[in-house]
Amino acid sequence: MAEIIDGKLVSNKLREELKVEVANFKNEFGITPGLAVIMVGDNPASAVYVRNKHKACADVGITSYQIELPTETSEDELLSKIDELNADKNVHGILVQLPLPKHISEEKVINRICADKDVDAFHPINVGKIMIGNYSFLPCTPAGIMELLRYYNVDITGKKCVVVGRSNIVGKPMALLLLEKHGTVTVCHSRTRELSEITKAADILVVAIGKAGFLTADMVKDGAVVIDVGINRLPDGRLSGDVDFEAVAEHASLITPVPGGVGPMTITMLLKNTLTAAKSAAMG
Ligand code: GUN
Repeated sequence: MAEIIDGKLVSNKLREELKVEVANFKNEFGITPGLAVIMVGDNPASAVYVRNKHKACADVGITSYQIELPTETSEDELLSKIDELNADKNVHGILVQLPLPKHISEEKVINRICADKDVDAFHPINVGKIMIGNYSFLPCTPAGIMELLRYYNVDITGKKCVVVGRSNIVGKPMALLLLEKHGTVTVCHSRTRELSEITKAADILVVAIGKAGFLTADMVKDGAVVIDVGINRLPDGRLSGDVDFEAVAEHASLITPVPGGVGPMTITMLLKNTLTAAKSAAMG
């Protein structure tokens, strides 16, 4: 039976540390780190995430600026808002909540955010820096997973790491970070053949595809570390991960639950990135 990775516990510990670091930074430089969060439209899931981000900022002493724009906002209007925030000295981090309404290009919007304020690490400059291992920000979800692995003393060197999912936000950067820590990494996706043969060989398995209960017990090796990035809403309203938790937990050595695994870590990493951005702005 697997040990359950407690994302809430690790997240709370890191937030306590961040609170101290933010206070020390304020004392030393007289600057309060600031995060601007832009939401366009009224996607209910986005509204929950955005609310949680503001609350988390307040908890650690980061000022958050909430910018809510109507669905009809034009691309130009959004880009101008970003220009304004890029120039604002009180704003160290800018996050545009995705997804955006269809008439706005996510690529244009991401490209417009000043790379030094890109606390999501979605800008091509930051993505490129991660590729060569010389980065200041990491995207929040993979960064949170790396912190969990570190906290639970999971040694990555030489291990067979399998990432299921190849999104720009999770799968691809996750693969790079595991590679950087000397894992032997395989990335699988919807066109992968004989997927379970590959997942069954994994020592560390990260699943991020957005299909409830997709990873079943027969796809997992005994003793594997299983990280579930999925957040899927079931018809009865409950949340489910991408992993069939009960059955897989019988085989894994460590496993993240949903909720309470990866989720709590992501916002914590956003706070960390905002502090990093404020520090670089202060120190040049
Ligand atoms: N929507 C879902 N996840 C994310 C994220 O990590 N960042 C942003 N900006 N939007 C999201």
